[in-house]
Amino acid sequence: MLDFGLRSLVSLLALGGSLLPASSWASPLKLHNDVRADSWPYGPLVTSGRDMKNARGDNVVYAGTNWPGHGEVMIPDGLRYQSIESIVTKIKSVGMNAIRLTYAIQMIDEIYANNGKDTTVKDSFTKALGQTNGPKFYSDFLAKNPSFNDSTTRLEVFDAVAAECLKQKVFVHLDNHMSKAAWCCSTNDGNSWFGDRDYNVDNWARGLSYMANHGKNWPALTSMSLRNELRKPDGSASSSYNWQNWYTNIKKGTSAINSANPDLLIFLSGLDFDTYITPIVQNTALTPGSGKFSTADFEGYTNKLVLEIHNYQNSANNCNSLKSSLYNSGFQALHADDSKTVNVFPVLLTEFGFDMSGNAWQGTYATCIASYLAEQKAGWFIWVVSGSYYIRSGRQDYEETWGLLKHDWSDWRSSAYIEGGLKPLAKATAQG
Ligand SMILES: *[C@@H]1O[C@H](CO)[C@@H](O)[C@H](O)[C@H]1NC(C)=O
Repeated sequence: MLDFGLRSLVSLLALGGSLLPASSWASPLKLHNDVRADSWPYGPLVTSGRDMKNARGDNVVYAGTNWPGHGEVMIPDGLRYQSIESIVTKIKSVGMNAIRLTYAIQMIDEIYANNGKDTTVKDSFTKALGQTNGPKFYSDFLAKNPSFNDSTTRLEVFDAVAAECLKQKVFVHLDNHMSKAAWCCSTNDGNSWFGDRDYNVDNWARGLSYMANHGKNWPALTSMSLRNELRKPDGSASSSYNWQNWYTNIKKGTSAINSANPDLLIFLSGLDFDTYITPIVQNTALTPGSGKFSTADFEGYTNKLVLEIHNYQNSANNCNSLKSSLYNSGFQALHADDSKTVNVFPVLLTEFGFDMSGNAWQGTYATCIASYLAEQKAGWFIWVVSGSYYIRSGRQDYEETWGLLKHDWSDWRSSAYIEGGLKPLAKATAQG
């Protein structure tokens, strides 16, 4: 039974600490004069067994929502309807403490192609939406967010979101959702798997590294993922779709992030749209080879790795079987006492969600997931905060019925769910 917490204690002791009660573990970190440890989010975060902890030794549990920024405009959605401040305020007001902020590698590729200069938001709206709606949406964006101007770049919008999150004490988890900016995910979108049509592995690793480095200016940024929902692509890249190649590429991605910014937690996601990551939990062969996950491959940062899975078994009609499914797909890693658990990690449900326009929130799926997360004291991000997208699948101003917010992002779509479902879930789980 491997316990990453033990390793992090050992490394703290190696830094000159003494064997103190668990509540004092954080003190050796202060020897580094790390000012960040003196104010929220009290980073850098580390893992200790099944928990994420801040530098003071307190547990951190994300309870939050996805906030997409990987669409064609390549800035966080909703800003033509509301200000960054009002959206973050809304998120915070119901007890959520984190956002999973998504971006596309295309943004970074374009920065490199343009001698390090990012595209302006103004140009990006026009490129994505055309000559009619581009300028119109952009002027809405400026009206709602008057601190921006014609020279504001896409990354500066991400900067402003991260700065507002710091102000309001909302953790930022940065998620690479796509290579080519667009709605995700299908098996024929060219972004499914390493080497797929629009998924260049070197550009991906370069993009992770760029954002990890850039994120040093975002104190609220505490973790990054490698890639959203890896899946078997249609076409020729499918022959390499397996756990063995997953591992080769995952090591490349984690190393890209950790060498650029060693403070960040790094989330590992599984196969089949990130619906399971069991071979890492049970330490079985990464097929078709016989190699296995090994902490030796993450030397110096084994206490930075976290697992994430997604669940969209929305038609579930039996809560016990849904809970077993969640457990067997990854949450088993929270349970060191299970004889089949070899690697203990924190595990988060970084996507789940349902239509907000009806009573789905009272159905088996939504209530079962909520009770499971509360029982496990596990972190989560609901899909999705967006009441609408600038563009999705070719349709502009796309209505998102799964959105927590209404079309114009002004208020909750289902206040019944917020009061009766989401707030209690956030209260039962959020820490930090
Ligand atoms: C334009 O906005 C950027 C931030 O997006 C800011 O740094 C810059 O100072 C602004 N320029 C003017 C002239 O207000």
